[in-house]
Amino acid sequence: MPKLKPLHAAHAPAVLAFELANRAYFAASISDRGDDFFDRFTDRYNASLAEQEAGTCAFYVLVAEDGSVLGRFNLYDVQDGTARLGYRVSERVAGRGVATATVRELCRRATEMHGVLTLRAATSHDNAASQRVLAKAGFVPVGPATPADLGGKSGTWYQRDLQP
Ligand SMILES: CC(C)(COP(=O)(O)OP(=O)(O)OC[C@H]1O[C@@H](n2cnc3c(N)ncnc32)[C@H](O)[C@@H]1OP(=O)(O)O)[C@@H](O)C(=O)NCCC(=O)NCCS
Repeated sequence: MPKLKPLHAAHAPAVLAFELANRAYFAASISDRGDDFFDRFTDRYNASLAEQEAGTCAFYVLVAEDGSVLGRFNLYDVQDGTARLGYRVSERVAGRGVATATVRELCRRATEMHGVLTLRAATSHDNAASQRVLAKAGFVPVGPATPADLGGKSGTWYQRDLQP
């Protein structure tokens, strides 16, 4: 059974392998991370761990039994009971409900572990799979997302109010 785990220094090689293997797949629907992300991966990874330590973000990885990373699920700008959600799932397990089940699980953790009561996510108009994931996980559209929110694309903000 894959497990959702808080991002840890030991996950770095598996996270890099996940990002490299799926780079073209992700870039078909969301902004590419850019060469700099891969060239300076260790620095960027350590900066993420420091942000997580500070409590402003909470990063999670979905780890398969063999230690490979199947997905990344992140809470950004955690403050005053709100946070922004981001996620990406490996092409090799696409369409099996992995994103939907894990977003639901992260909603529970967001409240229990991070005090989040309102979770928001933006997705572009052309990202039908992500729109479907959010709808299945109980999010509702609340307004337009700008190209500044979505790396150059237009889309929609979704929101889910969570129960404490
Ligand atoms: C979006 C993403 C996370 C979905 O992961 P996943 O594990 O395949 O998602 P799920 O299997 O839980 O659900 C996908 C749903 O989208 C549907 N879907 C997939 N591609 C679709 C398409 N082109 N048009 C319409 N629906 C589509 C699937 O049929 C499924 O819905 P269903 O259960 O009603 O059949 C994954 O594709 C991904 O990582 N994409 C790149 C990064 C990204 O877009 N992140 C989100 C940023 S907001």
